Order: sequence, then C-alpha cells, then structure tokens
Amino acid sequence: MWKGRFQQETSALLQQYSESISFDWRLWRHDLAGSIAHSAALEKAGLLTAEERAQIVAGLREIGAEIEAGTFQFKTELEDIHMNLEAELTRRIGAAGGKLHTARSRNDQVALDLRLYLRDEADALAAALRGIQRALIALGARHADIIIPGYTHLQRAQPVYFAHHLLAYVEMFDRDHGRILDARTRMNVMPLGSGALAGSTILLDRELIARELGFPAVTQNSMDAVSDRDFAVEVLAALALIAVHLSRLSEDVILWASSEFKFITISDAFTTGSSLMPQKKNPDVAELTRGKTGRVVGNLVALLTTLKGLPMTYNRDMQEDKEPVFDSVDTVKAALPVFAAMLDGISANAASCAAAVADPMLLATDLADYLVNRGIPFRQAHEVIGKAVALCGQKNCELPQLTLADYQTLSSAFGADVFQMLTVEKSMAARQAIGAPSPQNVAAQLARWQTALA
Ligand code: ARG
Repeated sequence: MWKGRFQQETSALLQQYSESISFDWRLWRHDLAGSIAHSAALEKAGLLTAEERAQIVAGLREIGAEIEAGTFQFKTELEDIHMNLEAELTRRIGAAGGKLHTARSRNDQVALDLRLYLRDEADALAAALRGIQRALIALGARHADIIIPGYTHLQRAQPVYFAHHLLAYVEMFDRDHGRILDARTRMNVMPLGSGALAGSTILLDRELIARELGFPAVTQNSMDAVSDRDFAVEVLAALALIAVHLSRLSEDVILWASSEFKFITISDAFTTGSSLMPQKKNPDVAELTRGKTGRVVGNLVALLTTLKGLPMTYNRDMQEDKEPVFDSVDTVKAALPVFAAMLDGISANAASCAAAVADPMLLATDLADYLVNRGIPFRQAHEVIGKAVALCGQKNCELPQLTLADYQTLSSAFGADVFQMLTVEKSMAARQAIGAPSPQNVAAQLARWQTALA
C-alpha cells in the first residue's frame, strides 16, 4: 500500500509484530458498511461513475458473503482488516477498487469501524442487562415471602426480604443499562472524512455518509476524530462496572450457597462437582464471573494507560485499543446470559432462611426505635438497648428472654408491649418509607419492574 516511498520489503519480523488482522478481522462487517457508504459520497462528488460504484458495492458484498461463509482467506502481509478488504476488492474489480480510498485514511476508517462495532455491541449489552434483571425479578417473585438477615460488615444487621436484596441488583443493572446507552449516544457521531488528521482537499458530503450509516451527527474536528478513543474508554468503564456488579452478586450467591448460610440451592445444571470429593457442589458460574472481573477491570486500565502519553493525533499505539475492547465485550456478553440462566435455576431454602432470620438480635434497632416512640432520644435509646444486648450476653439468652423487670431496670419507658415488638413480621411491616422493605413496598417494586421489563 505504500510501496512508492520504500526500497526494501517490510521485514517479516515487523509484519508479525504489527499485524492486527488476527483480531481486527472481526470488524469486517463494519468496514464493509463504511466503504459502501464512503463510495456513495465519492459517486456524489463525481469521483466514481455509477458503474464504478456498482462494481465496488457488488465486490464488497461478494467478499462479505465469503467471510460470512468462512471461505475468505485473510492475509497477515496485508496487516489489518482495512487493507485486506481493499486489496482483495482491487484484485477482483481492478481500477475502480483503487479509487475507494480517495479522501480517506485508515485513521478515520478505523475510528468509524470501532464506533460502528461498539454501537451494535451496546445494543446487545443493553438487551443482556435486561435479561439478567428479568432473572433477578423472577427469582425474587418465586420467593416473595422469604425474609433473610441483611448484612453490613458481613455481620447480621436487620431483616430484609430476599426479593429486596435481589432488587438492589436490579437497580445496579439499571444504572449500567443507562451508562451503556449514554455511551452509545456519545459514540454515535460519524468520523469519516477526517482523513489522516486534517480532512482532505477533496470535498465529500460527510452528512450523506452519516445518513447512510445511521449516524445523527458528524464529528466537528478532524484531529479529535482520529485520535479520540473516549467512546471505547466509556464502554470499557461501563463494562468494568457491570463486571464489578456481577462480581458482588457472585459473592452473595457463593456465600448463600455455602453450608454455613444454606439460603439457596443452585441447580445441578449450573454447578460442578469435584473430581475428588464426592459431596461437593461448586458454584463455578459465580466464581468464574467474579474471577473474570479482574480481566474486565484490567482492560479499562490498559486502554487508559495506552492513551495517556499519546500526542495528537493518531499513533500506532492506538491499535492496542482493540483487544481489550473485544475481550471486555466478549467477557461481559458471555457472563450476563449464563448468570441469568443460573439465577433461573436457583431456589431459596425457606427453612434455613427462616432459621437465620429468627435471630432476635436482628431486631435490636427496632427496640431502640420503640423507645424513641416513647420519647427517649435515639442516642440514649441506642445505649439502653446496647446494655440489654450485653445483659443477654451475661445471662446467655436472647432479647425476648429478658424479663420486663430487666427491661425496666434499664429504662422506665419500657412497657409490657415491648415483647410484641420482637417479631420479624412487625419489623417488616413498619419499614414503610420509600425504598424500605415493607411487604407492600417490596411487592410494589417487584410489580413495577415486572411491568417495566415485560
Ligand atoms: N490497524 C490500525 C489500527 O488499528 C489501523 C490504522 C492504521 N493507521 C496507520 N496510520 N498505520 O489502529
């Protein structure tokens, strides 16, 4: 492609080192679509005849069909997807093929291809996020009555509906969905026509190209357009956060499935056994997902680090954007449906959850609130209940086993009704603020999401 200026062949070592076709071949659809749109602008500018454009479009479509069928041979010597497709087109149709790269550079071409690719993937990821949200809602709805201890510091804290816990993840994945669509909006700007960095002396109708490719706008600065990878960083950041959310959910699933918690059972289809220990049933989907999060976070850091030292405009370093992008997209796109399917196969163990949530210490805060309702300042109430808990420690009993006399020694505000306070049902019923897990609120949230995700 650059033989004019060179007297030596490119070293085979350099070819091997610099080729990207082994991974960027995946951009073939987007590269073909970009070239077809570009050829429309070339024809409009009078740089291609209708006949030449028809040859180009037919030639590119033929190549596309062969790639699709798996019969096309990519060549390492041709370095990347852009040169592979253009060289093959010219080999097939002759002179007209040599006109396709007019007023275009691989710099604006690759910027276009990556935007087109990520735009498609953003849609796929948004749909996959909806899928895992649905699975979480369905799991919660199947066990709408189950209450478990909620934890802070992994210490039993206060009772919550199992569904409320799952709904927390539905909220997280909804923000992820918003972030992906937000990134999609910002990437949806057409860079072709920016040339290598300074546009071209040949005037093409960039807006025509944008319309052909479904972009609502064109980039406004040619130097920014070829050096900008913000859109890829934004997607990698959104993917890293999705992975972190999946990893936290994984951790909950792994804990819940352990003999220590026993809150859930994962179906055989989504667990693995041990080659050594016959009793084992391992939550591998959750563990692998938690593990893969390291890669996805690393990919974000990798691209940011690649970009940080780059002067304007395009630098070959930027070819290193693709592998992290592809890897994160592939990893998260694979994780979401597997995880959703595993959630579909989870059942909660009512008895173990009930046993755990029967821990009366989960109601200690409710007791402090009881005193507040009798005019005691919260700080004082907190101290009184703290002393009641300590007394339980001394007497080796639980809060309901203290006598009324015990309570009244700690505060005269206690009445005989204190014992009625000490039930999980009372505790849940009272949690009525927006966002709190009263039975009505949780049912309303499940219904709201079922409608929203239907
Ligand atoms: N394969 C290259 C990349 O991925 C395409 C752009 C090459 N441009 C160049 N001036 N060498 O970035």
